[in-house]
Amino acid sequence: MSNTRNFSGKVVLITGSSSGIGAEAAIEFSRLGANVAITGRNDRNLSSVAQQVVNVSPKGLKPLQVVADISKPEDCNRLIDETIKSFGKLDVLVNNAGYGYGVRSVLDPDILSKYENLMNTNVRSVIYLTHLSVKHLEKTKGNIINISSVAGLKPVSYLINLILFIKITIKTIDVNNFPYLYLHMLEKNIFNIYATILLLLI
Ligand SMILES: NC(=O)c1ccc[n+]([C@@H]2O[C@H](COP(=O)([O-])OP(=O)(O)OC[C@H]3O[C@@H](n4cnc5c(N)ncnc54)[C@H](OP(=O)(O)O)[C@@H]3O)[C@@H](O)[C@H]2O)c1
Repeated sequence: MSNTRNFSGKVVLITGSSSGIGAEAAIEFSRLGANVAITGRNDRNLSSVAQQVVNVSPKGLKPLQVVADISKPEDCNRLIDETIKSFGKLDVLVNNAGYGYGVRSVLDPDILSKYENLMNTNVRSVIYLTHLSVKHLEKTKGNIINISSVAGLKPVSYLINLILFIKITIKTIDVNNFPYLYLHMLEKNIFNIYATILLLLI
């Protein structure tokens, strides 16, 4: 399907544009005439995407390349500052950077550092970049696009569920004499939240 929208004169910042969905989005926005700011931690990948962005731009516009780790607030500051310094405005922020793997086992000895990195990358950066961008987007009547996942709607960490299921079921039946709690949670599809809280209690 061909996209005929015209983004000439627009400035689009796409996080996580050194590969995957973000890279393809940057290339597509450039093809539609936009000035794009691309970013990621991997400098080499970023340069490769930058070349593709120039190649498809109708006016041969070069992207702004910012090597940044968005889990770090100071890098987020620099990303927005450099975008505004280079292009003078911002029309679209695409919060795309993130990853889906994380804590695979509740017994992982690095559980806290992995949890913090996941949250700082997938959640905190989106909140902070949005905070930094809003004053610029208000001026241009711009937009924010957040790339999410079905995993954000329905938890998919089966291994952790299984471990918690066994522990909680045993505990609730044997110790608390409350076997229907788990069935209720299953029925309501709220197992993950409750399971996590319950694990902390038992
Ligand atoms: N592909 C899917 O099937 C799928 C499904 C559901 C949701 N999603 C979501 O869609 C988004 C893109 O996924 P994708 O498949 O295109 O992933 P990908 O190819 O792994 O790309 C992820 C991008 O995020 C960047 N990134 C990760 N951590 C970062 C950090 N701390 N600081 C700066 N940049 C960081 C990576 O850049 P560097 O490595 O250069 O830092 C890379 O450019 C993600 O948010 C993902 O959760 C994807």
